[in-house]
Amino acid sequence: DHMEHFIRELPKCEHHVHLEGTLEPELLFQLAERNGVALPDTFPKTVAECHERYSRFKDLQDFLDHYYVGMSVLKHEDDFFELGKAYFHKAHADRCLHSEVFFDPQAHAERGVSIESVTRGLNRACQYATKQLGISTRLIMCLLRHLPPTEGLDTVKQSLTLYEEGLIHGLGLDSSEKPFPPELFTECYSLISSKFPSVGLTAHAGEEGDHSYVQKSLSHLNVTRIDHGVNTKQSEDLIKHVAENEIMLTLCPLSNKKLQVVQDIAELPVDLFLRNGVPFSINSDDPAYFGGYILDNYLAVHDKFNLSLTDWCVISKNSIKGSWCSEDRKKELH
Ligand code: HPA
Ligand code: ZN
Repeated sequence: DHMEHFIRELPKCEHHVHLEGTLEPELLFQLAERNGVALPDTFPKTVAECHERYSRFKDLQDFLDHYYVGMSVLKHEDDFFELGKAYFHKAHADRCLHSEVFFDPQAHAERGVSIESVTRGLNRACQYATKQLGISTRLIMCLLRHLPPTEGLDTVKQSLTLYEEGLIHGLGLDSSEKPFPPELFTECYSLISSKFPSVGLTAHAGEEGDHSYVQKSLSHLNVTRIDHGVNTKQSEDLIKHVAENEIMLTLCPLSNKKLQVVQDIAELPVDLFLRNGVPFSINSDDPAYFGGYILDNYLAVHDKFNLSLTDWCVISKNSIKGSWCSEDRKKELH
């Protein structure tokens, strides 16, 4: 298959991957042992049991319940370095040349792991990726929307020196979507953008929430990108708006299938978005839990949609254009 070969070789940019979601069961059990972490009885006991459990998530919340327990084995700066390093090697193998990675500092703070040690460990992994693998990187801090916005604001305040140092480049919003609409976090976003106007703003929206969550992330949080954004498809006006304003949607096909956002990847609005000039990229979300890294996600789209070479070039160009890297780096990526 010529097309498949072309897709393998295509230079890729990733914009939607949670580093905690790249924690493979092998490393998870190693760290649990090394750090003396006892996992709860409800958590799978072996690598094989992980794979079995991860193959049947009911929805986003069912996944998140495992995701937060899984990451509880991460305790020290070096654990985060090791986690990031393992992910960047996978990305490199998939011909990913630029990667913007999410992390969830609040999910580690509750175990007494400081935002500094998480950020420094991950930043060392980013530097390793650039020096050893030639991957340009961006680190995006996410706020957990299931926690009170006042705690989000505290986290933002604690992170200001890290933004100042240039260790973090973006702000995002993730976790359980529907009960926690974007406008709750308006103040968190405005604080970051008032202090650091060049920091990239994004938010998960329109994964389980409807199109109004996408709309409100744009109007209240001033994001320039939307993570998932699948439900943009529900509104013709919104489709027009994101196309005209070049708001990139970071689609995650395997994630959407595993969390039953769609029953089949063929249901994703890939054709609708291409026909209407909606820019999107293809991403891996939580690859250790959803069974595939960025190339697997590209190939899943290839398998379900008979896209032309021209379509793939549009996807590839849009994923470069929507990246938060320098214009010089964008030229190199072409
Ligand atoms: N949605 C919301 N929160 C998340 C996700 C996701 O896909 N992955 C990790 N945290
Ligand atoms: Zn995500």
